[in-house]
Amino acid sequence: MCGIVGYIGKRDCSDVLMDGLEKLEYRGYDSAGIAVFENGSIKTVKTRGKLACMKAKLDNEGKPLGCCGIGHTRWATHGEPSDINSHPHSNGRVTIVHNGIIENYAELKDFLKEKGYVFLSQTDSEVVACLLDYYYSERNPLKAITETVKELRGSFALGILFKDFPDRIYAVRKASPLIVGKGDGEFFIASDIPAFLKYTKEYILLDDDEIVCMENGKAQFFNVHGIEVSKEVHTAEWDVEQAQKQGFPHYMLKEIHEQPDVADKTLKAVIKNGVPDFSDAGFTDDIMRSIKKVFVVACGTSMHAGIIARYAVEKLARIPVTVETASEFRYMDPIVGKDDLVILISQSGETADTKAGLELAKEKGAKTLAIVNVKYSAIARAADMCINTLAGPEIAVASTKAYTVQIAVLYLIAFRMAFANGNITEEELKALTKEIEKAPDAIRNILKKEDECRFIASRLVNVEKLFFIGRGFDYALSLEGSLKLKEITYIHSDAYAAGELKHGTISLIEEGVPVITIATQESVLPKTISNMEEVKARGATVIALARKGTKFAENTVDILFEIDTELPDMLTPLATVCGLQLIAYYTSVLRGIDPDKPRNLAKSVTTE
Ligand code: F6R
Repeated sequence: MCGIVGYIGKRDCSDVLMDGLEKLEYRGYDSAGIAVFENGSIKTVKTRGKLACMKAKLDNEGKPLGCCGIGHTRWATHGEPSDINSHPHSNGRVTIVHNGIIENYAELKDFLKEKGYVFLSQTDSEVVACLLDYYYSERNPLKAITETVKELRGSFALGILFKDFPDRIYAVRKASPLIVGKGDGEFFIASDIPAFLKYTKEYILLDDDEIVCMENGKAQFFNVHGIEVSKEVHTAEWDVEQAQKQGFPHYMLKEIHEQPDVADKTLKAVIKNGVPDFSDAGFTDDIMRSIKKVFVVACGTSMHAGIIARYAVEKLARIPVTVETASEFRYMDPIVGKDDLVILISQSGETADTKAGLELAKEKGAKTLAIVNVKYSAIARAADMCINTLAGPEIAVASTKAYTVQIAVLYLIAFRMAFANGNITEEELKALTKEIEKAPDAIRNILKKEDECRFIASRLVNVEKLFFIGRGFDYALSLEGSLKLKEITYIHSDAYAAGELKHGTISLIEEGVPVITIATQESVLPKTISNMEEVKARGATVIALARKGTKFAENTVDILFEIDTELPDMLTPLATVCGLQLIAYYTSVLRGIDPDKPRNLAKSVTTE
């Protein structure tokens, strides 16, 4: 949700900022802008539209020439996407870029209007520029920032330039991500590591309300009282190549194809001596034995991973699991306490609702376990225990590889919890672990069927609506298949437990409506086949994803996509999901949509 960058050093700042914004475009792409110190004064260029519009504007008008500046790519919250609402915003002597939401902006605006400030935009962010200017009465930038931060409610990551201090950048954050990249005599700020990975792998995390001042090859950090603090330098484990398209037309396709490798890496990181072992994360057998109930709290695709976990943990460990969407959990006064485990799943580790769910769970005394893809992210740092998935940077808005590694870890948790609670023996634990180790090959096999996925996509390209159905693990996966397809194709799609369809939804089935049926679970296969026949009898086009060799009566299935895998039924989602991702991807491309940047969506939802 909005990407911010900043650079100070010896390079051409406009180029570095535009480069960084390109890497952050997944966070928002309705407008963009940069502000750079050029010969001691700030030159701002900004425009509505994707980054390509910004590039065109810089080509036409000339890029600002300097070595210090800030940039922004926007996902509109307050005020429509327009030139005027684009960042950077300047008011008085201050220019800022902002990611987050200022919840009390209306009252601050009234206050500032009374003081004579005139507002140009409809954004909440401009209020911050004015407030900084208001508190800049003593021409002390640090004081202006500390005073301003005390007044702001909500979330913010800010890059700040003071007109009186050329070639100096300030930044501050609270509840929105912001990291400082440390190069050789140069510094960067960014919402996410890929923005500066090309230049440096070293970075420093800012805690809530911490301020950084960067000037002359030096960075100083201060707490909210203006007192200098020392910070640890981390080294990113991600490579530059991982954050690039590497010859694929879209990040999404590249990320789908990375799945065998990242699944392998993630599995290897938590399997020790042939069994899953989470003791490094502090998630020991003793803790597992003490848990009476599990809550999974997450959003979107990560929440769908939680639904797979529910089936796996309940089946194997026989511990009740509730999966809650984080935006509900945080306000529902959940009955959760010290004997419960709350698992927070998040690719970004920054999702506002999931983070609030974590805080609530901690307040209520529950044990908290984060499963995150971004190391040291807010959720990773705040949870009692944390397991890092190793998907590497996920840049496409639609989550693919992050989901696959999340479910891989969740299956392993289910195995280990089953063992810790005496539901399975060590031999059985080892056998299950051996089975999941086949996942990378199973995924590779599905990825070879890209042409079949493209063919299925060609049959979906002009439909108005479609349905996904399945039972058990296949139902859990249907939810994800449906979300993936609708978010990047704009075709209305819904997922149902196959047995639920005739309780209302079947009235929507008419001639030619596609019903994508996932039918890999042997124990409920006859039931799923009956449901396929019911929709077929009403004119549906049935597209079935089923294990190789599954027999269907003649004319039940219009298109069969065979899942050729040795994985046991419970684990087939690890492979099947890749087929669903490819179908969604190609449908999006055939409809002329950019699957990496679907309309209205942004990655890393740091607002409620
Ligand atoms: C869908 C998608 C979103 C995210 C959701 C949670 O493809 O990517 O539904 O899964 O916004 O994000 P994280 O996992 O970063 O908390």
